Amino acid sequence: MIKIENLYKSFKQQKVLENLNISIYKGKVTVILGMSGIGKSVLLKHIMGLLKPDKGQIMVDGVDIVPLNEKNLNKIRMKFGMLFQDAALFDYMNVFDNVAFPLREHTKMTHKQITEKVKETLHSLGLRGIEEKMPDELSGGMRKRVGLARALISDPEILLFDEPTTGLDPITSASIEQLIKKTQIDRKITMVIITHEIKLMKNIADYVGMLHDGKIIEFCKPDMFIKSEDSYVKQFIEGNFEGPISV
Ligand SMILES: Nc1ncnc2c1ncn2[C@@H]1O[C@H](COP(=O)(O)OP(=O)(O)O)[C@@H](O)[C@H]1O
Ligand SMILES: [Mg+2]
Repeated sequence: MIKIENLYKSFKQQKVLENLNISIYKGKVTVILGMSGIGKSVLLKHIMGLLKPDKGQIMVDGVDIVPLNEKNLNKIRMKFGMLFQDAALFDYMNVFDNVAFPLREHTKMTHKQITEKVKETLHSLGLRGIEEKMPDELSGGMRKRVGLARALISDPEILLFDEPTTGLDPITSASIEQLIKKTQIDRKITMVIITHEIKLMKNIADYVGMLHDGKIIEFCKPDMFIKSEDSYVKQFIEGNFEGPISV
């Protein structure tokens, strides 16, 4: 579904991505692990065409998106749903308007059709009776759910998650995990999940890659990943201070 080849990205002197290669398989959940500040969000933004690489290819469904202009990128972006790290809800809009936003912006659906679709999507995520609430009245977990509802409302083919459980307590984290799993089973969407949480990876990944020094240094199924002999992967999984990775 997505194939990235020889991707390079620097900000001024700082090299963030350096000859990165990865394939994202259709209908599967790919988890990308890595340290804080290593370039996970930067990678995700490239996949959606929100950042341009210095060099490299990003094929989405057979189309290299790197040379595309904004107009053509917008067409490609219709395939994507994105749940940002902070859910990125509009603070001045209530839940209903937040979730309805993509439909109002990008479709010609009627008010009635939009209302039905928003309610159906909220209900499918276990969200009832909160349409009128403002984002600042919601808990962290609820905000993520609403963010997921907004990401799903346009029936995307690919869902991107930037640290969906970071900053949540373990139980709320588990509920978001369950929701991601259920969404995957119900909709068979291709998912890319960026996280530094091993537990999330173990519970929902079909494939897992680790980003380090600008590259994907390991890419395999979770059971193989856990058993990896790579010293970087081992240090990350075990959370050891001592090892090849220094902070
Ligand atoms: N737009 C930007 N301009 C300059 N530097 C950036 C920009 N976006 C990210 N960076 C830098 O790139 C590095 C990787 O960032 P990021 O992808 O956000 O890390 P993380 O893996 O925690 O998501 C960081 O050092 C960050 O400061
Ligand atoms: Mg990030």
